[in-house]
Formats: sequence, structure tokens, C-alpha cells
Amino acid sequence: MQADGQARMAVDTGVAGERDADLSTLNTFGLRARAARLLRLRSAEALAAALATAPQQGPRLVLGGGSNLVLTGDFPGTVLKVEIGGRRLLRAEPTAWIVEAGAGENWHDFVRWTLAQGWPGLENLSLIPGTVGAAPIQNIGAYGLELAERFDSLDAVDLDSGAVRSFGLADCDFGYRDSVFKRSPGRWLITAVRFRLPRPWQPVTRYADVARELEARGIEAPSALDISDAVIAIRRRKLPDPAEIGNAGSFFKNPVVEAAACARLLAAHPALPHYPQPDGREKLAAGWLIEQAGWKGRDLGPVGCYEHQALVLVNRGGATGADVQRIAAAIVAEVEARFGVRLEPEPVFV
Ligand code: EPU
Repeated sequence: MQADGQARMAVDTGVAGERDADLSTLNTFGLRARAARLLRLRSAEALAAALATAPQQGPRLVLGGGSNLVLTGDFPGTVLKVEIGGRRLLRAEPTAWIVEAGAGENWHDFVRWTLAQGWPGLENLSLIPGTVGAAPIQNIGAYGLELAERFDSLDAVDLDSGAVRSFGLADCDFGYRDSVFKRSPGRWLITAVRFRLPRPWQPVTRYADVARELEARGIEAPSALDISDAVIAIRRRKLPDPAEIGNAGSFFKNPVVEAAACARLLAAHPALPHYPQPDGREKLAAGWLIEQAGWKGRDLGPVGCYEHQALVLVNRGGATGADVQRIAAAIVAEVEARFGVRLEPEPVFV
């Protein structure tokens, strides 16, 4: 294990780490915060050693790319930064490629690598910020595909007991932006994820934006790379690049309401985008509700509601978690007053 940055030191456990670490560059929102201790984990063995020699006292925070995180203040415990690398084809089955990646691999680089290797299936999830290990936690989904549809299994360490466990699809209990891991924050540290990429490959072009983009490019029978390129173009137009403007992607989940509630809303607002769910309920477009409530492109202090996609909050410079919470609360209140729908935040608050 290695430690980067200043304040490099061997902490009491003999494990190299960093004290009073700056977290502002480790969260894509760019929120200012510090951690009492930061450990960078380059392998599952390093984690096991750290847990064995020093059962962590106080709160723990497992950090991947920090792209779905709102730091509401300094963190008094230990941040475990997952930097476990590696990617390989595990098995070629008649109906699937089984590909494995270390939790610390960059998600988008991994997706493009699978495409270059000739193992398509993740292309709709191109350009999503963050790491491979973070992807199952919120069951990342975009442009007609959810991670759960390409998931095989994963390995995780129970930070309470140190035990290593494998999770199959059913064990993860994936839902919309949800999983068992999201429901027990700080308990599991995911070390590796395996993907099941179906053979033969079939393009997923049901999402209207993707179909439109391919049409505009004159592509009728898209390859996986075409779809990846189309998704990248759409995302670049709509979503701010965290390297340039601090943000955590969609700040709110799209609310799922009963069919009757949706019908009532539609009577008053016929243009409201809504998507039927398998259970008969309807998912509403939170971005539309926020835009109609007048928040798109508006700022409150140093945090803004992004001008090209109202579902995203952006750091205009120097924002803290409290600034984010202030504008989020104002948006929730206004949407609820107007539409009777209560929006829920999507990122993890720490
Ligand atoms: N809309 C508006 N105004 C806005 C934004 C959206 O009217 O400011 C409308 C759009 O016109 C469209 C509908 O809302 O009719 C849906 O918009 P979009 O296709 O942009 O998708 P979204 O529902 O806003 C979700 C995900 C995104 C994902 C896209 C594409 C959530 C919380 N967000 O956004 O995920 O990229 O679909 O699949 O489900 C993320 O989770 O961080 C994320 C970016």
C-alpha cells in the first residue's frame, strides 16, 4: 500500500496512510472537506492486512471515484479509498463473456476496453463517472440499460467482521438506483465485479435520445462502438464534465408514483414525461418537474441547477455541503408545493 500527497506518514498500525487528508479533489462535486485518516487500498490483501492489524475505530467511508457523494462536513473517521486494479476475461461461455475488473478501475475506461476487446454489452453505460466498484452500489443506469442487466457477481469484504463474501445477482437485490450495498452504507467494501456480457450481442436503442442520435448520424445498424459514441455525445451535451464543473450527476431520483397519482398530474400537466414501470406504477421525469418549477439554470449561493439538465446540481466555485443542502431543500419544497411530489436525493450524503 502507498500513500500520496502531503502529511504522508506511517500511522499507528504500521499501514501507510495519510492524516488530516484533503477530500476536495476526491469528490467530483469538489466540496471542501477533510478526513481524519485516509488509507489507499491497492489490493484486497492490503485491505485484509489493514483490517487485521487495526480494526478501524470510529466511522468508515468507502470511497471510489467520489462521483455520487455529498460531503456535508469534515469526516472524523477513516476513508478507505479503493484503488484495486486489474481486468480480464474470466470465461467465454456459449451465451456470455464473463469479464472481471478490480473495483478501483475507472468505469468508462473499463467499458471502452471491453468494446476494444470485442466483448460488447456495456456501451449504453459509457462515460458514467466513477469506478467499477461503485457501479453496483447504486445500480448505475442510463440510456436504456441498468448495470443489473449485465451483472454476474462481485466480491466484497464485510468491514464489520473482515469476512470475504461473493454476491450473485439475487443477493444484490438491485432496484432503481438501489442495492443491498446502498442500504448499508459503510458495511461492504467491494473489491472486484464480474460482468455477464450476452452472446450474441443485441443493440439496446430503445431510449429515444439514443435512437435520435444514431439517426442523426445516419447509422441504421449500429455497432456497440457506434452506440457508445452516440451516448458519449449525448452525455457531453447534457451533463457537465466533473473535471470542469463540480457535480455528482443526477442529484435527484426520478420519482415513482402510483398510476392514479400520475393520471391526476397528467390531467393538469399533459406534457409531463412519465414511464410505466413493471409493477404498474409510473416513473416521472424529475428534471421536467424542476424545470417547470423555475429552477433550471438558477443558482442559490455557490450551487446552481444546471442549465442543460435540471436534475444536476453544480458547484459554481467553493461550495460546501451545506450550500448543496440549502438549494436541494429549496428545490424539493418548490416541486412539492407545485406538484405534490416529494423528490429524493440520489447521491450518498456523508
Ligand atoms: N427533462 C426536462 N428538463 C430537464 C431535464 C429533463 O424537461 O432539465 C425531461 C426531458 O426532456 C425528458 C425527460 O425529462 O423528457 C428525461 O430526461 P433525460 O433523458 O435527460 O433523463 P433523466 O430522467 O433526466 C436519467 C438518469 C440519468 C441518465 C439519463 C439517461 C436518473 C436520476 N437519472 O435522467 O442518470 O443519464 O436518465 O438514461 O435516473 C445519474 O444518475 O447521475 C444520471 C445522469
